[in-house]
Amino acid sequence: MERRHVFDSTSELAAAVCGYIARDSAQAKARGQRYALALAGGATPRLLHVAMVSSQWVKTFCWDEMEFFFGDERMVPPDHRDSNYRMAYETLFSRAPIAPEHIHRIKGELTPAMDAAIDYEKQLNRVLTPLDDGVPQFDLVLLGLGSDGHIASLFPDTDILNERKRWVAATYVPKLEAWRVSLTLPVINRARKIFVLITGESKSDIVASVFNDASSADLPVKRLAPHGELHWFIDSKAARRIAATA
Ligand code: 6PG
Repeated sequence: MERRHVFDSTSELAAAVCGYIARDSAQAKARGQRYALALAGGATPRLLHVAMVSSQWVKTFCWDEMEFFFGDERMVPPDHRDSNYRMAYETLFSRAPIAPEHIHRIKGELTPAMDAAIDYEKQLNRVLTPLDDGVPQFDLVLLGLGSDGHIASLFPDTDILNERKRWVAATYVPKLEAWRVSLTLPVINRARKIFVLITGESKSDIVASVFNDASSADLPVKRLAPHGELHWFIDSKAARRIAATA
C-alpha cells in the first residue's frame, strides 16, 4: 500500500507523522510488543523530533516500548557536527523520557566502517525479531530524500544498492569522498511501514522526477518496494511540481 500526503506546512506534516507513530506505538504496546523505528539522518527529521518532544505530543508516545535505531550514519564520532546520532540526541533523545538502552547507535567512530556495520547488525539481531526469511523487521523506517534520489546512504551507482545478504553495510560514497554505514534494501523494504519525509523547494525537482518521470526508475528511492506500507509526507513547496496526473 502506498499513500502520498501533501501538507501546506512542515508543522502539519510533522503532526501527521507524530499521529501515526503515537497510534502505532500504542498498538504495539497493546500487543505486548516493542515498537522499533529507524530514524532518518540529515536535516529534515529535525522538524519531526521537535514535534515529538513538544507539549502537544510528548505524552502521546509509548516511549518505554520504543526502540530507536538509525537508518544510516556518517563515519564520524557521535559528538561530531555531521553525526546523525548527535542531531537526534540534541533534538530528541535529550528531550524525551527515553532510556539509554533503548537507543541503538551506529558507532561512526569505528574504523574501518565495516566494523561499525558488523557491530550494528549485531545490535539489530539482538533487539529485532527476524522474520521467517531471517530478515529483521522494523515497525517503521523513516527516510529523507536526497536531491540525487538517495535514501539513507544508498546513493546512485553504489554497490550497496545490490546488497541482499547483509542487513547493514559499509559504503564508500565517491561524491562525498566519505564512508557511510547504512541499512540495506532488504531490511528497509521489510519494514511494516516506511515514511519518506520531504520538505522544501530544493526538493521539488527530485520529487517531480520521482512522481512524474517514468525514466527515474534507476533512482535509489525507486527501489523502495515495501512488504508493508509506504507513505510519502511532502510539504507543498517540495510537491509543487508533481503533475496533477501523477
Ligand atoms: C543522511 C541521510 C540522507 C538524508 C538525505 C536528505 O545521513 O544524510 O540519511 O539520506 O535523509 O540526504 O537530507 P536532508 O534532510 O538534509 O535534505
